[in-house]
Amino acid sequence: MPTKILLIEHNPDHILLTERILQAAHSEYQIDSVRETEGGIKKIIEEDYDLVISDYRLPGASALDILREIREKNIDIPFVVVTAVGNEKIAVDLMKEGAYDYVVKDASYHDILPMVVEQSIGRHSMKKAKEKAQEELVNAYQMTRDILEKSPFGISVVNDQGKVEYINPAMIEICGAKKEDFEELNYFELETYKQLGLDQKIKQALQGEGFFLEAVEYTSYYGHKRTIRNFTGVPVKDMNKRKVLMFVEDITELKVAEQKLAEAYQQLKETQEELIQSSKMVAMGQLAAGISHELNQPLTGVKGFAQAALMDLQEANPLRNDLQKIIEQADRMDIIIKNVRFFARKSEFKMEEMDINKPIEDSLGLLNEQLRVHNVRITRSLSEDILQIKGDRNQLQQVFLNLITNARDAIDALNRPEGGEIIISTSMSLDKKNIEIIFQDTGGGIPQEHLEHVFNPFYTTKSPNGGMGLGLSIAYRIIENHKGTVEVDSEEGYGTKFRITLPVGND
Ligand SMILES: Nc1ncnc2c1ncn2[C@@H]1O[C@H](COP(=O)(O)OP(=O)(O)OP(=O)(O)O)[C@@H](O)[C@H]1O
Ligand SMILES: [Mg+2]
Repeated sequence: MPTKILLIEHNPDHILLTERILQAAHSEYQIDSVRETEGGIKKIIEEDYDLVISDYRLPGASALDILREIREKNIDIPFVVVTAVGNEKIAVDLMKEGAYDYVVKDASYHDILPMVVEQSIGRHSMKKAKEKAQEELVNAYQMTRDILEKSPFGISVVNDQGKVEYINPAMIEICGAKKEDFEELNYFELETYKQLGLDQKIKQALQGEGFFLEAVEYTSYYGHKRTIRNFTGVPVKDMNKRKVLMFVEDITELKVAEQKLAEAYQQLKETQEELIQSSKMVAMGQLAAGISHELNQPLTGVKGFAQAALMDLQEANPLRNDLQKIIEQADRMDIIIKNVRFFARKSEFKMEEMDINKPIEDSLGLLNEQLRVHNVRITRSLSEDILQIKGDRNQLQQVFLNLITNARDAIDALNRPEGGEIIISTSMSLDKKNIEIIFQDTGGGIPQEHLEHVFNPFYTTKSPNGGMGLGLSIAYRIIENHKGTVEVDSEEGYGTKFRITLPVGND
């Protein structure tokens, strides 16, 4: 591209002379000329010149006026003034207004003008390059700053005195602090950093050895509890001074979300298990009802025929003993069938307002003697202040009788001379919507893997004559019909706890 020069000069001879001088120096200069101020300014505005050469004195104006005008219009162009007579004051005024140089039309004009033109163009392009570099630097600085300030990772720079030189908002947030708080802080003396060995790690990083901590539970100096990971320290040099650049990722929220997810999953699993449990109960109930109904008649037959045979036999006949046993066993089967039917029965409940302590006391009264013989002590903590519930007293008594006998059996099975204890308590739940009944014993407990089976019908660990495995399934059904819940908690070797809740004001 040729270098375009605009010459503003009134005298045609001078125009010719200047053109000749410049072209002789640089053949690629492309020179336009105008003879008055207005036209000159117009051309400067409209066209793209690399340099303007203007005579100082122009018709009705001076080069100063042109300089002022283009400066007002924010046009940045190298501007050289030529004049017939040299004058210090004029020179100073021109420079003040932004002229690049000033040349006197004397004997040396021929040599000096091309030099001045070349220098001015060079100076201008250097100025432009410098401005561009500066602008790029500012942009780069702003961009870096933006990245640091908006980063979701905590970032800070510590100097070799342990002082914070830069800290970004994320890091301030992780510490639960304010920006000013870091002015006084010294990382080498921070207790919380010392606990993680970070003071030493930062010192090492200042010597050029970076560090990395995978995941840590961190309580900041300001008491903020966070879970952080990828805590990284990188040695850096700033104006030849050693510093450490630190990055941290805060995963506290992530951790909380994970925890909640795990809890939700656990809850889902429990609900699913409960669902399976209750549908199993329904199926078993139906099956049991059918079987017991079918068994009832043949059993009556067996018992009836055995009784008839017994009556026909002589007193001394040894078969009488066997028949007696048949009748006993038939009676036992009869009880089993009654129990099974009870279990299968839907809702023949006689609900009445009642004090829950009453059926508990009744059950204890019935078993009193037995418990004494088996060396089982009872500790009661029955609250007087509990609200009445609506329930079937006989059925609830049946629940409690079974829980107490189960506890007694568990204590008995341990065969300890000191026997054992059953603690029974009743109380109101905190929200006053339920009453809570707890039966806790010092028996041998239930192994973890059996816990889920204890409410299943016919699940028993007792000897063939000891239990039918119906007690807890019946209890479960009864409590369920009272819109309550039963839970078991047990630890092998330490005993078992049954917790029943029953809603108050249930109808
Ligand atoms: N308090 C307890 N301590 C230890 N194990 C218990 C306790 N309560 C129940 N169990 C276990 O749960 C099983 C089922 O109890 P459940 O009351 O349903 O039947 P059972 O007592 O064996 O027979 P049934 O009650 O029909 O006479 C018991 O066999 C026992 O293994
Ligand atoms: Mg039982």
